[in-house]
Amino acid sequence: MERSVPSAHDRTAASHGATVVTTRDIQSGVLIAFEGIDGSGKSTQARRLCSALQERGLSTLLLHEPGDSEYGDRIRQLFEHGRNVSPEEEMRLFLEDRRIDVRDNILPALESGSVVVMDRYYFSSMAYQGALGLDPELIREKNEEFAPRPDLTLILDVIPDTGVTRIRARRDVPDSFERVDYLLQVREIFLTFCSDDVVRVDASGDLDTVQEEIQELVGKLLSTRGLLLGAR
Ligand code: TYD
Repeated sequence: MERSVPSAHDRTAASHGATVVTTRDIQSGVLIAFEGIDGSGKSTQARRLCSALQERGLSTLLLHEPGDSEYGDRIRQLFEHGRNVSPEEEMRLFLEDRRIDVRDNILPALESGSVVVMDRYYFSSMAYQGALGLDPELIREKNEEFAPRPDLTLILDVIPDTGVTRIRARRDVPDSFERVDYLLQVREIFLTFCSDDVVRVDASGDLDTVQEEIQELVGKLLSTRGLLLGAR
């Protein structure tokens, strides 16, 4: 398999003037993030993408946030017992959980040349904790101090009614992270992120159609990095 060696110093300046770490600074892997509201199909689509990449001989690592650190455990407890902490404390827990994930999993995998696929990443903090009143750009800044910016972020977009209907179909009642009025705000914030490397994908269609569009977008990215996602 042909693998391109990225240029050593391809730093991009963030809009706020700080230096952002991109995957090209530090390693030869590729970082792809799936984002979107609950019930948008992220986990299924991320799994299917990883299988497709593996079938084509690429080494992949799929990671889900919140992760399995002590902070991730605390977050899961919060889901179960109601969100009885401040938005700042929620943000802190997600940030610390991510810091460990970046150090222990994301950076080593990128350094070894893998395609790392995130099922949620720091854009979720910007949107979910942003919808609780925190400044999304401040959340971005805190994260980009240590978390590499993805080469491609896919925002799987559905309206909250669709997301909540899907959640009800696989479980009983949505939790406090999944209320329609809250998700309306979360979705609105997610959509403000769209840019060259943050792409909205209409996720209201069937799984195969959405996966096709995802593979097309990822294929374009990989070919620019010398990693072709064509037929074997
Ligand atoms: P997730 O595990 O994706 O939920 P599920 O497996 O049920 O689809 O995420 C749990 C919740 O955590 C989700 O509602 C979004 C929220 N969240 C934040 O509020 N901030 C964050 O930074 C992240 C990563 C998730």
